[in-house]
Parts: sequence; structure tokens; C-alpha cells
Amino acid sequence: MENELKLLTGAMVTLALATSTLVIMPYLQLSGVKPAAGLKPYSSAQLRGREQYIKNGCVYCHSQQPRDKSQAPDAQRGWGRASVAADYYYDSPHLLGTMRTGPDLFNIGARQPSADWQLGHLYQPRAYTAGSIMPSYPYLFEVKDQADSGDKVVNLPPGYAPPGKVVVAKPEALDLVQYLLGLDHTYPAIDAENAKK
Ligand code: HEC
Repeated sequence: MENELKLLTGAMVTLALATSTLVIMPYLQLSGVKPAAGLKPYSSAQLRGREQYIKNGCVYCHSQQPRDKSQAPDAQRGWGRASVAADYYYDSPHLLGTMRTGPDLFNIGARQPSADWQLGHLYQPRAYTAGSIMPSYPYLFEVKDQADSGDKVVNLPPGYAPPGKVVVAKPEALDLVQYLLGLDHTYPAIDAENAKK
């Protein structure tokens, strides 16, 4: 009996320690964080785009957490300053990501602000980056004989649109691109740091 008691106590102590380190302490540390001054809340189109980002598994290949220069040359790669907690104020769930099969996207809106480029790249990454291993997302687009009024025709590099047809972005693609263009955390880190106080 004594051994069972020891085992149970040990298990409970381990669980309590883990809960405190992984749940309670981070909560206490971060619950006072305010949004950074330069950070804009998401528009409804951007929030729908964020859903597409999750649904299509972009997070499995792209991180959203540039690291400090002591850890990785992310700033030299053009991915921006190291992120701080206040940058993620409007993100629930956050999309930090753990894999970097593709570049970090935390500042893609600043790095590549062209909606045409973003749409075309989603339709066919290899039209822009030779040999890219990023999947294409053709189901976010419609191939039509001709565009109707109000359609957003994707301007693809020559040879990538199906012959004699036009490629039109579906609302899902337009929302996703709005989300990507909004990923811009290039405001100074100091604003974000001060937001904690
Ligand atoms: C299998 C891994 C993989 C998946 C899944 C993936 N990507 Fe990529 N992505 C890459 C790679 C590799 C590159 C670099 C080559 C290129 O530009 O195509 C890239 C590049 C990009 C770029 C350009 C980045 C830059 O700095 O120029 C954007 C934007 C992007 N991806 C968005 C997305 C979005 C949005 C999704 C989900 C719909 C997605 N990716 C899904 C691998 C992936």
C-alpha cells in the first residue's frame, strides 16, 4: 500500500508542477499584455482568410515567429525583427508554426504587398519560384471561358493560364490574400514591448 501511495503522490506532484509551469505561470505572465500600438485588429475578410490558412494547412510549412538574431539569422533573411507577445494579441489560436519548409510569413504583407502576386502564387507557386515545392491550390480558383463583371481575374505570368481561359479568384482565395497582406508586424518592437506595462 505504501508504494502505491508514493506512486500516486509522485504522479500528482508531477502533474501539479507541469500544470503550473505550462498553464498557470504563462497565464500570469501574459494576461496583462495589451496589443502593440502599430497592430491592427483583423477585418472580417482577414478573419475568414485566417480560417482558410488553417484549413489548407499553411501552418504545417510556414512559421509566424521570426527569432532573435542570437538564435537564427531571421532578420538577415528579411523576415523581420524577433516577435514579442503583444504582436499576437488578436491571434486565437496563434499560428506560430513549428516547421519552416517555406519562409516565415509573419511579415509577408510588408515583404510582398502585391495581391496579384499572392493570388498567382497560390494558384501556381512554380509560376513565380522555379522548382517550388509548395502545393498549388487550384480549388481556390475557377477557370472560366471569360470573366464576368466583378470577377477578380488572376494575372498569371505568360503560359500559366489554361489556353483560351481566364483564372478567377474565388472568395476563399481573396480572403486568404487579405489575411496574408495584413501580416505586417514591421512597427518597432519597442511599442510592442511597452504594451506589456
Ligand atoms: C509543403 C509545404 C508548404 C505548404 C503546405 C505551403 N507552403 Fe507556402 N511556401 C512553401 C515553400 C517551400 C515556399 C518557398 C518557395 C516559393 O516561393 O514558392 C513557400 C512560399 C510561400 C510564400 C512566399 C514567401 C516569400 O517570402 O516570398 C507565401 C506567401 C506562401 N508560401 C503562402 C502559403 C499559404 C497561404 C499556404 C496555404 C494555403 C502555403 N503557403 C502552404 C511551402 C509550403
